[in-house]
Amino acid sequence: MSEIKSKSNEKKFGSDESIAIEVKDLKKHFIRKKQFNDVKAVDGISFQVGKGELFGLLGPNGAGKTTTINMLCGLLKPTEGTAIIGGYDIGRNLEKVKELISVCPQEAAVFPFLTGRENIEYFGSMHLMSKERINERVEKLLNTLDLYEASKRKAKEYSGGMKRQLNLLVALINEPNILFLDEPTVGMDPRVRRKTWEFISSLKNENRTIILTTHYIEEAEALCDRVAIIDYGKLIVLDSPKKLMEEHNVKSLEEVFLKITGRRISEGV
Ligand SMILES: Nc1ncnc2c1ncn2[C@@H]1O[C@H](COP(=O)(O)OP(=O)(O)OP(=O)(O)O)[C@@H](O)[C@H]1O
Ligand SMILES: [Mg+2]
Repeated sequence: MSEIKSKSNEKKFGSDESIAIEVKDLKKHFIRKKQFNDVKAVDGISFQVGKGELFGLLGPNGAGKTTTINMLCGLLKPTEGTAIIGGYDIGRNLEKVKELISVCPQEAAVFPFLTGRENIEYFGSMHLMSKERINERVEKLLNTLDLYEASKRKAKEYSGGMKRQLNLLVALINEPNILFLDEPTVGMDPRVRRKTWEFISSLKNENRTIILTTHYIEEAEALCDRVAIIDYGKLIVLDSPKKLMEEHNVKSLEEVFLKITGRRISEGV
């Protein structure tokens, strides 16, 4: 079986203007102390994401999703392989890549002693945005989710789900063309989660390219244009949810997921 089952959407690496992200043979191997085995967290994955595509990166705990995203954002150096993002190679032009992207990391990263609004404003100033533009964006973003009133309070008083919302808004202050969202809705209640997914879909309508990871497979099924399912650092399948369900003769993407992934945390990897 080839590594990527559906090659229908693949184009020549580095050649196509309609491609926002091209990942090529990306690897990250963590070398650990000798009593532990080394970890092939990402073990040679390749895929392409089209401009304006909402692309789901799915897989069990420990499959390598966060490691992949961290390499694409420049937070981790690949062991081997590379990616071209917005036309720039992450190995050679990371600074250019950083101008195009934004990331909502798996671990909420906000300043506890700043208010929600101040957190978003702070990240706007880091992007060298004007005060007027920051204000305009902050108003728009706070009205999008449920944080308007809470944004006046310090982030240390926020619940887990509120911190996740703030994390997402922080990632959006600079209107990035390419967004990496690592489990953006984890810990949100169902109503806020639904609103957040609607919001993420609306970003797609603005022709922004999004790679997101989630364990809410039914939401990925409803919203993602295509999904890649990875396990043990390898890409197992990549296609639209509909095609994957047809191919595996099942009625939900979750069934596909359960059929083709096998990792358990109890394996100790
Ligand atoms: N800094 C590190 N040192 C050693 N091993 C690591 C390190 N970071 C991650 N790993 C290992 O790499 C593998 C992939 O981890 P990763 O965080 O990418 O998984 P994930 O797919 O994001 O999982 P989850 O769904 O739980 O967030 C795991 O086996 C993990 O233990
Ligand atoms: Mg993760």
